Amino acid sequence: AQPKPDYRPLYHFTPPQNWINDPNGLVYYEGEYHLFYQHNPFANQWGHMSWGHAVSPDLLHWQHLPVAIPEFTHTDGQTKTAIFSGSSVIDAGNRNGLCPTGTKDCMVALYTGHVTKGDEHLAQYQNLAYSADKGRTWTQYAKNPVVDLGLKEFRDPNVFWYAPQQKWIMTTVKPLEHRALFYASKDLKNWELLSDFGAVGDTSKIWECPALMPVPVQDETGRVTGDQEWVLFISAGHPQKDFIGMQYFVGTFDGTRFILDPANPKPIAPATGNVVDWGKDYYAAIQYNNLPASQPGPVMIGWLNNWAYAGDLPTTPFKGAMSLPRQIALKRTPAGLQLLQQPIAATAKLRGDKRTRQAIRLTNQIIPFESATDNAYELEVTIAPGTAKKVGLKLARSANEATAIYYADGKLQLDRRQSGNVTFNKRFASVEEAPLTPKNGLITLRIFVDKSIVEVYANDGERVITDYIFPTETTGGIDLFAEGGSAEIRQITRWSSKPTQQ
Ligand code: FRU
Repeated sequence: AQPKPDYRPLYHFTPPQNWINDPNGLVYYEGEYHLFYQHNPFANQWGHMSWGHAVSPDLLHWQHLPVAIPEFTHTDGQTKTAIFSGSSVIDAGNRNGLCPTGTKDCMVALYTGHVTKGDEHLAQYQNLAYSADKGRTWTQYAKNPVVDLGLKEFRDPNVFWYAPQQKWIMTTVKPLEHRALFYASKDLKNWELLSDFGAVGDTSKIWECPALMPVPVQDETGRVTGDQEWVLFISAGHPQKDFIGMQYFVGTFDGTRFILDPANPKPIAPATGNVVDWGKDYYAAIQYNNLPASQPGPVMIGWLNNWAYAGDLPTTPFKGAMSLPRQIALKRTPAGLQLLQQPIAATAKLRGDKRTRQAIRLTNQIIPFESATDNAYELEVTIAPGTAKKVGLKLARSANEATAIYYADGKLQLDRRQSGNVTFNKRFASVEEAPLTPKNGLITLRIFVDKSIVEVYANDGERVITDYIFPTETTGGIDLFAEGGSAEIRQITRWSSKPTQQ
C-alpha cells in the first residue's frame, strides 16, 4: 500500500519505480548529462543489478529512459552477470574502434561484472560495454573481462582521461583489503597496473566506489587560486563507525601514483576532518566525466541511503534517491586543505516564492517562522549563536514531530529521533554531529528539504549533513529556537521549490 504521506521528493532524482543504489557512468555528452544507476528493474529491493538511465540538460530536470545495460545470462543458461557499479567516458572520434566504423564518438562504460551461478558468487571483474547512440543501447565487448584478478571481491572501476599523459586512468578497489588500485590504458581495452594505495584512514568498513579527480583550490578568503590538488574519494568512513559513509584523501597524482599530501595529516583521524558527509544517507558518490568548460570543477552525485537500513525505507513504489549535484572544491585553512561541497549554481533555478525575515532575537524561546509548508523548499539562515547553548530550527514540525537542526557544543547537529516514522528499522533514529566553527561569529546554513530528504550545507559547504526523514503529516511548520541563553537569527529566507519531476 502507498504510505501516507507520499515521500517522493519533488526536486531530487528518484526512479519511476523499484530499487536504486549507486550513481554510475556519470558523463556529459552533447547537451545531455547522463545518470546511470544501480537498479533492480523487477522489484523494490536490491537484486538483478542493471544500469538504469536518465538524461538531463541541467542536472536538475531528468528524463527517464529505459534500462540501459541489463543483467545478462551466459550461454550455459545458468551463469549470470549482474552489472555492478562503474563509469563511462567518451572516446572522441571512436579512436579505439569499439563502436561501428563511422560512429562519431563512442560512449564506453567500464563496470564490474558480478558473476553468479545459482546461489554461488563466482567472481567480480571489470567489463567493457559500448554505445554508438548516446547511451540508449549498449553492446558487451566480445573480449570481456578487461581487468580480472581472479577475485570474488574486486570492483567499481572509476575511469577518467588523464590529459598530461594522453591516457585513461582507472581506479578500482579491493574492498576487503581497503586498497585502491590504479590502472592505465591508451585504448580502454588493455589495462596496465600502475600502483595502489590504501589501508589508511577509516578501514572499519569495506572500501567501495573510489573516485579520483583534480580539484581546484581556493585561498582562505574563498578566492580561486588556479592551483589544484588531487582528491581520492572512498566510500567507507563514517564518524559513527558502525555506519557506512564516505572519506576523502588529499594528495598528488603524477599519472602513476597517488601520494598523500603530508601537509594534510587528516586521513588518519576521520573524526576530525576527512568525512565527506556527516549525515547517514550519502554514499557511493562519483564525479562527472567530460564536463563542459562552464563547470568550474568536479560535480559529484551520491546515492541517498545507508546499507544499514537501505532495504527498509518506507517508500513505494520506489526505494532510493540521488543527492543534488554537488560542486567540489578545496579551501586552504590553517589545518590543511578542506573539502567544500555546494549544490551546483543552477540549483537556484528551483527557487520559487520567497519569504525573508531579519534580526530575530531569541532568548530561551521557540517561535514559528512558517506554520505549514509542503516540506519542499530551500532555506538560507545566518545565525549569531551568542550565549545560547543551542540555537537552530525545527523543520517538518507538526503536533508530535519535528526534525531539529541546530548549533550546540561547537557542532552542527541534526536530530531526527522525533522526525516521524523512525521505527521501520531500529538503527534509523539518530542524532548527527559535525564539528563547526563560526566565521566572524556567524554560522550560515543552506538547507534543502524535499519531502523525505534533508541536505544541510554549513559555512559555504565546509560541512554537510544529509539525512532522510519520514514525517507522518503531509505539511510541516518551521520553528526557530534558542536554549540556554540568547542568540540572533540575522537572516532567514525560505524559497518554495519548483518541482523537477512527477
Ligand atoms: C556500493 C556497492 C558497490 C557495488 C554495488 C552493487 O553501494 O556495494 O560496491 O558495485 O553497490 O549494487
